[in-house]
Amino acid sequence: MGHGIQNYTCANTSATAVNVGALAVLYDVTPLYPGTADTGLSADAFDNLTSTLLWDHAIPLNLAQQQAAGPALSRAAVTYTESQYQAVAASPFPSPATDLAITTQNITAKYLGHHYFDSSSAPTFDLSASTGGLFFSGAKIGDVKAPTAADKGLFETNAVDWLELGDNSRGLSNGVVNVYRVVTAGGAAEACSVSGANKAGEYLSVPYTAQYWFYG
Ligand SMILES: *[C@@H]1O[C@H](CO)[C@@H](O)[C@H](O)[C@H]1NC(C)=O
Ligand SMILES: *[C@@H]1O[C@H](CO)[C@@H](O)[C@H](O)[C@H]1NC(C)=O
Ligand SMILES: *[C@@H]1O[C@H](CO)[C@@H](O)[C@H](O)[C@H]1NC(C)=O
Ligand SMILES: *[C@@H]1O[C@H](CO)[C@@H](O)[C@H](O)[C@H]1NC(C)=O
Repeated sequence: MGHGIQNYTCANTSATAVNVGALAVLYDVTPLYPGTADTGLSADAFDNLTSTLLWDHAIPLNLAQQQAAGPALSRAAVTYTESQYQAVAASPFPSPATDLAITTQNITAKYLGHHYFDSSSAPTFDLSASTGGLFFSGAKIGDVKAPTAADKGLFETNAVDWLELGDNSRGLSNGVVNVYRVVTAGGAAEACSVSGANKAGEYLSVPYTAQYWFYG
């Protein structure tokens, strides 16, 4: 499961926001899968994990304005704007990385890796430190809108699309050939025309969570 931000830019107030990258910390929730002896959650709790993480846990990134990381807790309590969720570009990932603990829900998960877009704008998943080498440099193969019942997120904008990614043939991937992004919560951008903020030319960052399924 990933928790982080989707980055957008707006050319002007009548443009459509363009997705220019994402940053997320990944946790291994395999032991929480329903039916797993001793550690498995109920199906309902597992399906709601992305919402639980989005609302009940702070964004595990170094943000330029760290107070914005949260936890957000409720829609009514969200006071920050999209531009205030930007990460520190030079060092977005806290070091050392830490495991996930949502104490109120008794949920823990091991740190798995990082998700980011590389300098060629390729969606990248670096699981190498925790898995002995797994790495994925991908490209989008397919997408589908999130279900209408999906968690619309902190700005009530919507959950980002569900995606299939394949290897991008740059020779960077190791041990991973497909990644699916599903059960998304939040992450879609506000319209560039939303008043009260000058969005033109700014990085706009929208908190999101998702399940990522890795296939070797
Ligand atoms: C706004 O940006 C879009 C996308 O770059 C461009 O097509 C459009 O002409 C721009 N509109 C104005 C009013 O500048
Ligand atoms: C899912 O998690 C969110 C955030 O913690 C919570 O508000 C909501 O009630 C949960 N939904 C279900 C069906 O458990
Ligand atoms: C947005 O995402 C890109 C791609 O991962 C990252 O390089 C950049 O630092 C992020 N920018 C902000 C302002 O969060
Ligand atoms: C939390 O999970 C641990 C490990 O599964 C379990 O031993 C403990 O009883 C749980 N506590 C609560 C309050 O559910």
